[in-house]
Amino acid sequence: MLPILCLALCGLLTGTRADPGALLRLGMDVMNHEVQSAMDESHILEKTAAEAGKKRPGMKPIKGITDLKVKDVLLPVITLSFVPGVGIFQCVSTGMTITGKSFMGGNMEILVVLNITATNWLLQDEETGLPMFKSEGCEVILVSVKTNLPSNMLPKVVNKFLDSTLHKVLPGMMCPAVDAVLVYVNKKWANLSVPMPVGQVGTVKYGLSSTPTTTASYIQVDLSPVVQQQEGHIIKLSDAKEDLEVPEGYAEGSSQLLLSATFLTAELTLLQKSFDVKIRDMKIGKLPPQTTETLAGFIPKVAEVYPEPKPLVTQIKINKPPRVTMKTGKSLLHLHGTIEMSAARRRSKAPVSLFILEVLFNLKIQYSVHGDRLQIATSLDRLLSLTQKSSKICAFDEQEMTGFISDYLQEAYVPVINDVLQVGLPLPDFLGMNYHRSELDIVESALVLNLKLE
Ligand SMILES: *[C@@H]1O[C@H](CO)[C@@H](O)[C@H](O)[C@H]1NC(C)=O
Ligand SMILES: *[C@@H]1O[C@H](CO)[C@@H](O)[C@H](O)[C@H]1NC(C)=O
Repeated sequence: MLPILCLALCGLLTGTRADPGALLRLGMDVMNHEVQSAMDESHILEKTAAEAGKKRPGMKPIKGITDLKVKDVLLPVITLSFVPGVGIFQCVSTGMTITGKSFMGGNMEILVVLNITATNWLLQDEETGLPMFKSEGCEVILVSVKTNLPSNMLPKVVNKFLDSTLHKVLPGMMCPAVDAVLVYVNKKWANLSVPMPVGQVGTVKYGLSSTPTTTASYIQVDLSPVVQQQEGHIIKLSDAKEDLEVPEGYAEGSSQLLLSATFLTAELTLLQKSFDVKIRDMKIGKLPPQTTETLAGFIPKVAEVYPEPKPLVTQIKINKPPRVTMKTGKSLLHLHGTIEMSAARRRSKAPVSLFILEVLFNLKIQYSVHGDRLQIATSLDRLLSLTQKSSKICAFDEQEMTGFISDYLQEAYVPVINDVLQVGLPLPDFLGMNYHRSELDIVESALVLNLKLE
């Protein structure tokens, strides 16, 4: 017990807990599902029973019973409970029929119903850095023992003998099964730390920022995601102002994934360069024709320079890293950049720059989940400021263009952004989690995915 205790405690002691960029809260629903499916998929009890039933050289015969065989393992019922500060208490109730030749000579069938209990410590694997369960103190409790022999043929002494023999034999037979199930569950964390691509621009990798903790009603795993550009540069998450916390109000036993606004900001920073575009279309949605003639409506001088209407070329550049913010029920993407409008020229000649505006605007974000990705779609929330950075034609009042630029951003630029965002942001891949039924809530500084199992 001691080395394990140290593992757990040392993790806590060394942990000046790093600010997590994401957080997983796993309730009993997920843990039950995981352990149950590990049990089913691994067929571990059946395997164990089959193994135990095999004759092996060197295996000590059980005194009084020969030709020992195990058959008909009952479907195990698993009961889990959280042990605060420790992990999970696991009870597997099952049963089996053991056949053999009794010391009295006849064929004997023993129906054993038993509970296998163990404490599964939740630790952080030193090698992989991933969550890891390790079981301790496995015990087999006989719930009932029945034989095919009439009870009057089983005096107390025999009963006692069976009981003690089974007590000696069963732990060695059944406890490895508990360990094997845990190995199975532990393996299901392996993909968490695998870098996942965000289009061609970079990767996101989730890792633990501290040893997972257990309370009376959930396991909490703090994640510190690493957002890395294709060229290798890591985008640091800015320090969050407040701790990431699951808000009140989620059902007891339910599970949530929280993604902080700072983490989403880092992920969108990965895409910043793709937000720079040059748009040359004359006809865009409901917008007036993108020509110098339309522009002349705001800047009369343009009509003098271009008596013949010329198509406009608009270049938008995002000069500062995008920023995601969240208030209850609303999330915004803040963008700061420049809009340069130029008049196109014939053939391969470069367009002539007319002016550059500095622009600050917000897009409203709508989140959804598609497969293992968080999908983001935006629409214009507000144009916050518009200032003239330079003008090649003449000074003009850019404020008069507010409506024109707002419409332009919504009709021409937002579709470009939404197109870029279609790559989706990878969600943590752990325990084979399927996100498609999760419900999304925007809370203070974070997005909550309320995880729903199939
Ligand atoms: C066996 O486990 C079941 C389910 O957890 C429990 O209800 C029962 O009391 C246990 N029996 C014994 C003898 O421990
Ligand atoms: C890890 O990811 C691979 C590739 O998507 C998948 O085939 C495998 O089943 C995953 N492993 C686990 C343990 O979820």
